[in-house]
Amino acid sequence: MPKIYVTCRVFDEALSRLRSAGHAVEARDEAGPIDRETLLSHIGDAEALVCLLSDRIDADVFAAGPRLRIVANLGVGYDNIDLDAARAASVIVTNTPRALTETTADLTFALLLAAARRIPEADGFVRSGEFLGWELIQPHIGLDVHGQTLGILGMGRIGTAVARRGRLGFGMTVLYHNRNRNPEAEAELGVTWVPFETLLAESDFLCTHPPLTAQTRHLFDREAFRRMKRSAILVNVARGPVVDEEALVWALREGEIAGAGIDVYEKEPKVHPGLLALRERVVLAPHIGSATETTRRALAKLAVDNILAVLAGRPPINPVG
Ligand code: DGY
Repeated sequence: MPKIYVTCRVFDEALSRLRSAGHAVEARDEAGPIDRETLLSHIGDAEALVCLLSDRIDADVFAAGPRLRIVANLGVGYDNIDLDAARAASVIVTNTPRALTETTADLTFALLLAAARRIPEADGFVRSGEFLGWELIQPHIGLDVHGQTLGILGMGRIGTAVARRGRLGFGMTVLYHNRNRNPEAEAELGVTWVPFETLLAESDFLCTHPPLTAQTRHLFDREAFRRMKRSAILVNVARGPVVDEEALVWALREGEIAGAGIDVYEKEPKVHPGLLALRERVVLAPHIGSATETTRRALAKLAVDNILAVLAGRPPINPVG
């Protein structure tokens, strides 16, 4: 009976489907990421692995799991997986695209609005009993979102869903930068491709949605922040290392930009202490872009669909690489 190893807690219905299909499933039942030794010591006889973005899947993993046929990553990003090593070991890698597009776009906008309108600060103010009544000049004066310029780095599925919200919901002008132009999004939404420098210079709100690659790592460094408007807000829901966190703290402290909505961190789960100390127009979330009940269940279902297909000798539904 093929064994499937699951590195994290997964919904029962997903595990049941694997077991009903005749597979032996060993699922780790602890909070937090798996440690390296535990991972390596549990995959010796596994034919399939369900894993997370925090699990580094490389040649050592394939050596420790010589029977592996598929690695099903729970999430759309797969920068945690060494695709060359997977190819060399003849292991199929799959991800979970589409299922999380709209949910992640919602969270992008939630962070954008929360930072612009200073919602966490205002919430703390009310709870601490400091609210003394409406005034014309209140402590939490924020920034308008409607009608402003929204910049999107990475006009894939999530970027397009964010653009749709900005354009149709908030009447924003939408600029984007992407390696390749996106004619469908341009035709549907009237968004405009611009060079990266223009995106930096003209965006009031700049949302990042690229995959993490050698080209996108630290794309937002001190120089990039210097080029942004001092009134701009950066929203990162993609991958932490797209932003140099040290430079972000510097930019916020120096007023090079006005705020940030951050869901992902450079050394996750660690967060730069300087970022934790900043509260004005800075909103932090614990990597919850896709975290709704419906979407997380859909991710698990998709990972299971991929495993069932591959172990039954059918092609994977969402292969990557
Ligand atoms: C994704 O889907 O890439 C999310 O960041 C969670 O893995």
